[in-house]
Amino acid sequence: MISRKVDLKKLDVSRRGHASTYSTRYFEESVPRYEIPEQGMPANAAYQLVHDELNLDGNPALNLSSFVTTWMEPEADKLITENLGKNFIDHFQYPQAEVIQKRVVNMLARLFNAPEDEAAFAGAATVGSSEAIMLGLLAHKWTWKGRRQAEGKPYDKPNVVFGADVHVCWDKFAKYFDVDARVIPMEADRFTISAEAVAERVDENTICVGAVLGTTFTGEADPVKEISELLEEVKKKKGWDIPIHVDVASAGFITPFVEPELEWDFRLPRVRSVNVSGHKYGLVYPGVGWLVFRDVADLPEELIFYVNYLGDEMPTYTLNFSRGSAMILAQYYNLLRLGRAGYTRIANNLLGNARYLAQRLADSGKFDVLNAANRLPIVTVALKGAAGYTVFDLSHKLRERGWILPAYTLPPNAEDIAIMRVVVKENFSRDMADLLFDDIMNATQVLDGTKAERLEPQRSARRGHYVN
Ligand SMILES: Cc1ncc(COP(=O)(O)O)c(C=O)c1O
Repeated sequence: MISRKVDLKKLDVSRRGHASTYSTRYFEESVPRYEIPEQGMPANAAYQLVHDELNLDGNPALNLSSFVTTWMEPEADKLITENLGKNFIDHFQYPQAEVIQKRVVNMLARLFNAPEDEAAFAGAATVGSSEAIMLGLLAHKWTWKGRRQAEGKPYDKPNVVFGADVHVCWDKFAKYFDVDARVIPMEADRFTISAEAVAERVDENTICVGAVLGTTFTGEADPVKEISELLEEVKKKKGWDIPIHVDVASAGFITPFVEPELEWDFRLPRVRSVNVSGHKYGLVYPGVGWLVFRDVADLPEELIFYVNYLGDEMPTYTLNFSRGSAMILAQYYNLLRLGRAGYTRIANNLLGNARYLAQRLADSGKFDVLNAANRLPIVTVALKGAAGYTVFDLSHKLRERGWILPAYTLPPNAEDIAIMRVVVKENFSRDMADLLFDDIMNATQVLDGTKAERLEPQRSARRGHYVN
């Protein structure tokens, strides 16, 4: 028997440092993990170290969990790289980014059917929909407060009404900005809100009602039109002037193109503000969202700060001061490059691919399809009956093949329902839908024990060639 005792101290195997594979080539000492190194290192060494560590990340092209764009055209990449060093807030030094922001806000206001009598629409580029929602709701809180003050009424108990189907950023707003959240729970068989449930919760202290088109959980839509009609009635009967903020984080670049007749936007009189994520189906990389108001009067002047530190006197309505310009410019690039026709074509392709996958999953007999890409290119499924494994097991198993598909439970009162979601993005072809479907079938068979763990090369029934 060979016994060998290794002296770890001699080997200097510190848990606090990186000991890179390339250490003999690049490093003489290990690189600290949690302290700034005393000395720097050559650029190629630093690049290699960080690059290698990021190999642990998932493959963005197989990331079907997030709505966020993982691919743009090379020309967009070029524009982004050229503008990476420009701080958007330096309007004086880089005036065009601000001009372009205004153009995009106006384009979106028109896309969302804002009344044309506005000379220029109010809105802002944000880091994403979360910032846009917070700024939109903040504006409504301020308008409500101004009205209450003018009427000599108390303004210390604002509330906001929305469903449990919202993204976490709505709860964040309520907590961070000290507004009571009146959350409408989901039902075991209903995953959106109803106008009746809104009616039960609004009062004179309601700053806003939130409605979502394309909910994060199932991709479904709250009935914005019915809520708008209800709030019109409330205004007539009780005098409460309650606005709606519509969250179309992911639907904002899909629904206007594929269902232009659906009235969810500024055509409805109670809709005063809208957010959309440019980095979702706006088809831009992470880092851009948009807030659009119906009317300049919906953004109270007191919330706009004018600063002169950077040269000119400039107005700002953002939570953060500095931010990159590149993604705002990339959004403008996409709008010019694709036009309405291009966005429509892409949205229809995405829906086609998502519906194809949904159909195959339904036909397999293993899933209840909760959303077969009805409005958005999102497929949500629950396992049929007692499968002997869960969607969490399935999601985990698929990770072995590189697919990233989240599994989660729905919020109260539907928390007993566990679902898996596929977000279809531009790089997800019909062929990839087949590959994913085959891998899902394989994984279910391994999990229910009808197939051995090892993945054998198998012939795809539909395509007639080897798929793995
Ligand atoms: C409906 C909805 N609202 C808001 C957000 C937050 O958007 P962002 O990640 O752009 O801040 C998301 C994100 O997925 C969402 O789906």
